[in-house]
Amino acid sequence: MSLKTPAQIEQMRPVGRFVGEVLTSLREFARIGMTTNDLDAHARELIARAGARSVYLGYHPSFGAMPYPGVLCISVDDAALHGLPSDEVLKDGAVVSIDFACELQGWVADSALTFQLGTTTPEAQRLIATTEAALDAGIAAARVGARMGDVSEAIGKVGRAGGFGINADFGGHGVGRTMHEDPHVANLGRRGTGQKLKEGLVIAIEPWFMAGGDGYVIDPDGWTIRSADHSITAHAEHTVALTPNGTIVLTARD
Ligand code: MF3
Ligand code: CO
Repeated sequence: MSLKTPAQIEQMRPVGRFVGEVLTSLREFARIGMTTNDLDAHARELIARAGARSVYLGYHPSFGAMPYPGVLCISVDDAALHGLPSDEVLKDGAVVSIDFACELQGWVADSALTFQLGTTTPEAQRLIATTEAALDAGIAAARVGARMGDVSEAIGKVGRAGGFGINADFGGHGVGRTMHEDPHVANLGRRGTGQKLKEGLVIAIEPWFMAGGDGYVIDPDGWTIRSADHSITAHAEHTVALTPNGTIVLTARD
């Protein structure tokens, strides 16, 4: 795993701040009746205005059936991760997860949030709050000298206590010059196991939970990951940097 110097972590602050600002802006911009393409177009404008670069557009890992066509992942209701921007219309009560990463000044940051549009439901609100609480627990466990399993267990415990479905196939990851670096940050695990977390480690921590079971399915597009039982899902993510003086949430939003 690549470790960053204190100076490099300082250099990552602008992209972290920008990613947080874009997510805040998208959340305010989103309206019932818009399409997910409308959200993607708004993000493209903000990226262009800032002189940033999308790391999603054209991204083509082994699991994608085609190069990624957007600058956001927008996963609605039972879609959990990697939802492609499309002409899908956002309805009242939709559970909308937006995942955004980009490059600015040579560094990448990655973050995600979930919100419900219009009329809220207690089930969705509890799912979203629990996913955010799991992210907070993961961040609290991500300290110099701790182990990766401490982070994974902290996340998984919160999700299980809420009674939610968890699948550890997709999780967090190192972030730096590129979006996906080592190590993997699983959303389930055991305290005291895994690698020791060192000063200079920068990772995206990203719990995603399902209101039903642990299974998921992938759409024919090769990208969109949905709960197998079509229960609603939520996703929360921050990019954090581990320093001897504590863990910095680079993508913090105010
Ligand atoms: N930020 C996403 C993650 O870490 C990655 C999205 S890849 C894309 O899960 F190509 F879909 F954009
Ligand atoms: Co990520």
